[in-house]
Amino acid sequence: MKNILPLVMLFAGIILFSSCYYDKEELLYPTGALTNCDTVGTVSYSAKVVPILQQKCYSCHSISFPSGNVAMSTYATDKAIAVNGSLYGSISHAGGYSPMPKDAAKMTACEIATIKKWVDAGSPNN
Ligand code: HEC
Repeated sequence: MKNILPLVMLFAGIILFSSCYYDKEELLYPTGALTNCDTVGTVSYSAKVVPILQQKCYSCHSISFPSGNVAMSTYATDKAIAVNGSLYGSISHAGGYSPMPKDAAKMTACEIATIKKWVDAGSPNN
């Protein structure tokens, strides 16, 4: 009976070790490396930008609830903050802007790159 103890400990060790091993990319690279980031071609406002902003911003910045007097959620409002620089300034945590999303983790590199590409293209309604 005493002889199997090291064996049991070895198996327990293997199980513990393997349960701590993550090979998911988003866990290994939490800021989201730009691999698998689809910003090839034109970035569509409705298909790409809105889903990101909806998930991370509109809960605090809508027409009826414009935190900090910043309304978002329509093309006109989203374009206005794109054009005045505060959209990219706030999500990239640039100096002089309140870092957004407020009190939450910085957006992933891919989300930021997607929005930047749309802004740099002149924030089209596409
Ligand atoms: C939890 C609520 C909350 C969320 C989520 C949030 N904001 Fe804000 N935002 C605020 C508040 C409150 C202010 C007013 C300034 C401050 O308190 O920092 C603000 C200010 C701003 C400003 C003006 C900043 C400046 O310095 O001119 C912009 C632009 C902005 N938010 C964009 C965004 C964007 C884009 C997102 C999504 C990535 C977002 N916000 C998510 C609450 C939020």
